[in-house]
Amino acid sequence: MRMIEIFDDKDAVYLRAAELIIEKAAEAIEERGSFSLVLAGGSTPRGIYQLLASPNLRERIDWPRVVAVIGDERNVSPDHADSNYRMVRENLLEHVPIPENAVVRWEPEIGNPDEVALNFEKQLTDKLGPAPTFDLVLLGLGDDGHTASLFPGTSAIKEPDRYAVANNVPQLSTDRFTLTFPAVNNAANVAFVVTGRAKAAAVSAVIDQQQFPAARIIPKAGRLYWLLDTDAASLLAAR
Ligand code: 6PG
Repeated sequence: MRMIEIFDDKDAVYLRAAELIIEKAAEAIEERGSFSLVLAGGSTPRGIYQLLASPNLRERIDWPRVVAVIGDERNVSPDHADSNYRMVRENLLEHVPIPENAVVRWEPEIGNPDEVALNFEKQLTDKLGPAPTFDLVLLGLGDDGHTASLFPGTSAIKEPDRYAVANNVPQLSTDRFTLTFPAVNNAANVAFVVTGRAKAAAVSAVIDQQQFPAARIIPKAGRLYWLLDTDAASLLAAR
């Protein structure tokens, strides 16, 4: 099932995203005693993480029962300015009582890209079991229609089984690390959070024309949310 929600501005999108995370966390912890949350990288989700870390929202999630997973990563050290883990750590993890060993991050510093992906998959399995169903996956959208590090024309978008892979991205001249379509499409809930006019064409191409890698995010049994501001939704066909 897909829900498209459009808000006046990005702050309203961030608040809705934070509330969705709080809602899904409460449900999962009530049902099974834990909540697995895949965190998006890039710049958009920073505002969401800052809200979740704020004094009036921080207490709304039972953080000791959360497993936080970095959805994709750049091939840089965890302290590098481009590190998604660093962004998530600085804006969220350092401010909430989530156990250090409940954070699943990519470790580019340990070896070659394939070793990094295998290490990440082992962490996932150790903490969540084989082929886990993530309770909620947050995703951004690039203006080329990529999501996570699933870029057009790259090998990762063809991965049929593995949950986590290294992915060479020629258009960026770099290796990335990413969860795959099997991993995300097995989730109970997936939420794209997209703001700004620069993303409007990509949003319409994905939603209206099913183009680009992001259009292949189709949860098998889970719910798909699009949380958009009016700018990002401005080219969407009327519905
Ligand atoms: C990354 C992200 C990537 C991001 C989009 C949108 O590592 O950069 O995982 O998929 O979500 O590129 O990025 P912005 O939010 O910065 O526009």
